[in-house]
Amino acid sequence: MSQSKGPGKEKFEELDRKNREALLGGGEKRIEQQHAKGKLTARERVHLLLDEGSFEEMGKFVMHRSKDFGLDKEYYLGDGVVTGYGTIDGRLVYVFSQDFTVFGGSLSETHAEKIVKIMDLAMKNGAPVIGLNDSGGARIQEGVVSLGGYADIFYRNVMASGVVPQLSAIMGPCAGGAVYSPAMTDFIFMVENTSFMFVTGPNVVKTVTHENVTAEELGGASAHSTKSGVTHFSCANEAECIAQMKKLFSYVPQNCEDTTPRLPYTPGNERRPILNDIIPANPNQPYDMREVINGVVDEGSFFEVHKNFAENIVVGFARLAGRSIGIVGNQPASLAGVLDIDSSIKAARFVRFCDSFNIPLLVLEDVPGFLPGTDQEWNGIIVNGAKLLYAFSEATVPRVTVITRKAYGGAYDVMNSKHIGADMNYAWPTAEIAVMGAKGAAEIIFKKEISEASDREAKLAEKVEEYTKKFANPYKAAHRGYVDEVIYPDQTREKLIRAFQMLENKVAVLPKKKHGNIPL
Ligand code: HXC
Repeated sequence: MSQSKGPGKEKFEELDRKNREALLGGGEKRIEQQHAKGKLTARERVHLLLDEGSFEEMGKFVMHRSKDFGLDKEYYLGDGVVTGYGTIDGRLVYVFSQDFTVFGGSLSETHAEKIVKIMDLAMKNGAPVIGLNDSGGARIQEGVVSLGGYADIFYRNVMASGVVPQLSAIMGPCAGGAVYSPAMTDFIFMVENTSFMFVTGPNVVKTVTHENVTAEELGGASAHSTKSGVTHFSCANEAECIAQMKKLFSYVPQNCEDTTPRLPYTPGNERRPILNDIIPANPNQPYDMREVINGVVDEGSFFEVHKNFAENIVVGFARLAGRSIGIVGNQPASLAGVLDIDSSIKAARFVRFCDSFNIPLLVLEDVPGFLPGTDQEWNGIIVNGAKLLYAFSEATVPRVTVITRKAYGGAYDVMNSKHIGADMNYAWPTAEIAVMGAKGAAEIIFKKEISEASDREAKLAEKVEEYTKKFANPYKAAHRGYVDEVIYPDQTREKLIRAFQMLENKVAVLPKKKHGNIPL
């Protein structure tokens, strides 16, 4: 047989190299620009994120189609975004990574098409999408075409919501669509000092509202992780940001039909005596709910989400006997663990994420009620607190509650009570389950008796004692079956392992509907 007459591999390589050089040009300078700002390039970020050698790039040769404002003289291969797929710990993910050195990472028609392509593939193949955002938003020179491109992405963000997990990192100054698309994903990570998120930057703010504000003050990682709550994670640098994303990824399934990731676990002695020493003798003394969480879950497995925002509630992922769970815990160490607007929104969003992706929920409850006052009322504590009530009520994943101390008022109902669908509820002997604290209750229901008493103080103390004896314990609730079992703290871990095992095949179906109308 005769040999093939076509060009050999070397010739193909030579041709490819010449074509790329002609099209690319200036790449090194742009890499330097990015490094000079203390930032990695779009491609370096992708390689840090994915398993070595696993990245398959798509659309490397795509170029924009614009002719206006001099764009017909400036073309870059890939058009400012690196897209493709690869693996993290062997699990498939789709990724896009924007290149700020190309028109400020701005989104053109073609840039958008590349992102849309991987989002569509992710949904068809049931794998998460990770966006590494470094973009000034819609490419201004393209007008409505770039706006349309962002809308195409927003639409897919919504269609993919609850189907596959979507994670966003903000790795530079991001504005417009580059913040609205992340806002519709499940989790946002920011890098301190080099990343910003705003609808519009400080210059426009100055023109419109005459406010003098720096980019950091307006939309830095600190502002968004503590004040607005827009970002869930504030990371010291890009490497830490990517490491945190990978860590979160290890707790979540590939899609809404997948089961939660599981690490091998050999059962042993599951008693944890350390839990017996956390609740202070004085019921008004604070303690850190994280100590309870860490005492209950697999050692070192608690991964806190939204750590610096609404600190009166703690949420995060952990493993229990190797299996991923989501945890919501009131935090007595901050505002006595009261529920307010921010904490209700924070927890509701977390509960809905877990429920979307089959991650069982554990609630650790110590809550004195909802925060009263004009600030809360005028900003809508009624409707915002209702979000958490709604989120728990509609969750169909296995749900278990442990009441460690206070479970007062409406907050008792809200915090995953049996009445709204929790599967197993435990209480420690320190639990106080009542409409309100004993002093407040006595002052209201014995008002007349107290005011008529010769020694009002003594009368009040007597009535507080009476109310405490009757309600400041878990037994009234246990008599009714609202609490399934009163347990000692050191038994908690083994009880929970068994309960979640028992609930492993839970099937709960909501009434037929198009969708509910959560009080937004
Ligand atoms: C085209 C852009 C651009 C954009 C930045 N550049 N944003 N080009 N379209 N949207 C270009 C700049 O012209 C500049 O080009 C280079 O990127 C770097 O930008 P700088 O301004 O020099 O960088 P910096 O000082 O770091 O400021 C970054 C920035 C700022 C904060 C992002 O550039 C900015 O405010 N951009 C506009 C943001 C914006 O309003 N976007 C449109 C949003 S509307 P040269 O050639 O000089 O290097 C939108 C629709 C979505 O996105 C709707 C949401 C619902």
